[in-house]
Formats: sequence, structure tokens, C-alpha cells
Amino acid sequence: MLDVEFKDLKFAYDDEPDKLVLGGVDYQAKKGDFVCLLGQSGCGKSTLLRLIAGLEKSNPTELLVDGQPVKGTSLDRTMVFQDYGLFPWMTAGENICIALKQKYREWSDEQREEVAKTWMNNLGLDEDLFDKLPNNLSGGQRQRFATARAFAMDAPLMLMDEPFGALDAVTKALLQDTVLDLWQKEEDRKTIFFVTHSVDEALLLATDIVVLGQAPSKVIHTHHFTPETKPTRDALFTDPAVNELRNTLTKIIDDEIQEKARRLQEEKASRPVQEAPKGLFGRKKSR
Ligand SMILES: Nc1ncnc2c1ncn2[C@@H]1O[C@H](COP(=O)(O)OP(=O)(O)O)[C@@H](O)[C@H]1O
Ligand SMILES: [Mg+2]
Repeated sequence: MLDVEFKDLKFAYDDEPDKLVLGGVDYQAKKGDFVCLLGQSGCGKSTLLRLIAGLEKSNPTELLVDGQPVKGTSLDRTMVFQDYGLFPWMTAGENICIALKQKYREWSDEQREEVAKTWMNNLGLDEDLFDKLPNNLSGGQRQRFATARAFAMDAPLMLMDEPFGALDAVTKALLQDTVLDLWQKEEDRKTIFFVTHSVDEALLLATDIVVLGQAPSKVIHTHHFTPETKPTRDALFTDPAVNELRNTLTKIIDDEIQEKARRLQEEKASRPVQEAPKGLFGRKKSR
């Protein structure tokens, strides 16, 4: 069973070892969960995904994937980034094929191309786009390719870092529906960690919403939906219970932002005032 467990997970980057980004995250995601991570900018959401992906080193007792410590990257985990992460020097289609080549070495080029095109089709991409360079595609098309590549890899754990943040509203809604559909359709569902700054996106996609507090961050709020309570897109605008939940989540995040602003203000006020260096601003005008 592929679940993800954080046990008092702490983390600091090497360049500032005393400054904890994660200050003890406790959470367990079960196989097939669609976890949406919310929290103010800089609280460590991307860091958390990078740790799960094995791109940053974690303490072996504090982060377990499928019961095992994360020891580096693995084909069991794929990541989708906001900036698409496509190699600009190869065609969009080749970007999918080269990823498939890592996992399915025994496949022929034709097999890889066929699977790539099936996933392009699932993500609403015309086959003609296979030979285009990423730079000659729209933002929405690039994100579809990046998402197609991640699904084609068929990894049980998918990590998505604000993948639709830069897209226009219509493309975003289409891609949200597609991802939700693909995830729901699978009998053996993937576990997804999806970072977003949009409460509505979390309400629409998540089985579980996890809110992180300010750094050094911990989990400050969780909300679980059952299949019966999971909001549809229509319910986002019409259901009073969903509206109340939206308000609650927004307030929790807002309160954290206010609290951080207050702390920064206090820190600033307690610092000694520095005199401006003479000769720059302190010089008298000669005329
Ligand atoms: N590669 C890095 N090296 C050092 N510090 C980093 C690095 N990446 C992010 N940080 C710092 O870690 C904190 C959390 O960043 P991040 O995980 O990107 O937050 P979020 O995704 O929630 O906006 C920030 O203070 C950021 O400056
Ligand atoms: Mg981030």
C-alpha cells in the first residue's frame, strides 16, 4: 500500500541550517487520497513536495513513503511543476517519450509514441502537437503535456506544485476537471499531493485539505471529505455548507498572514535604528 507519512517532519535548507522551514509536520495520507496543500507563500509547501519527491534529504524516521524512508528520487513518484518542466530542446511529444523510456526500457519507440499519443488525447491535445517545440505552444498546451507526461508514467504517487496557477480561468477549469476525472476513473487510484493557493481549487479537487501554518510550519488545519460530502463544481457556488467551509479556510489562512505581518512588524520595531551613512544622504548641498 502506498501511503505517505510525516512524523514530526522537520527540515532546514543547508544554507540556513538554523532556520527551520518545516517545524514538525505530522500527517498521514492513505493510498488514493487527493491531498490539497494550502498555506501562505513561503510556508514550505514546495519544500514538502520536494522532500516527498526525494529532491531534498529528509530524516529517515520522519518521512515514510509506502512505509519506507525516502532515499532519493524514484519512478514511483512523478512531479508536475507550475513552469511545466518540459525540455525546450526536444519536441513536446518527445518529452513524454523520453520519460517513458526511463520506466519502460523494453518498449519500442513506436510503443512509446503510441502511449504518449493516448495520454495526449486524454488531456485534450491534438496529435499534430506531438512534433512542436514547447516554446511554440500556449501555456495551457504546455501544462497539458506536462500533466500527460506525469500520468503516462503511471506512478502511484503524483506530486503537483501549483500546476494550474498560471493558466487562464477556462483552461484551468478544464484541466482541473480532466485531472479529477482521470484520478476518479482509475480503479487503483493514485495518491496525489497537490499544492495550490486557491481555496476553491482545493475544495473542488481534494479528498483531504491540509493547511500549513507559517514557517517553521506545522499542519494547522485538516478537512476530510467523504465521497458523499465532496463538493461538485456547481456546489462550490450554490451549497451554503461549502460556502461556510470556504470562509473558515480563508479565515484560517488570513489569520496566519496577519500574524506573520504582526511578528515582522514587532521584529522590525525591536531592531536598533541604523543611521544613514554620511556622505551619501548626510552631505550638505554645496550651493
Ligand atoms: N533551494 C532553497 N534553498 C534555500 N532556501 C529555500 C530553497 N527553496 C526554498 N527556500 C526557502 O524555504 C522557505 C519555504 O519555501 P517554499 O517551500 O518554496 O514555500 P511555498 O512553496 O510554501 O511558497 C522560504 O523561506 C524559501 O525562501
Ligand atoms: Mg511553492
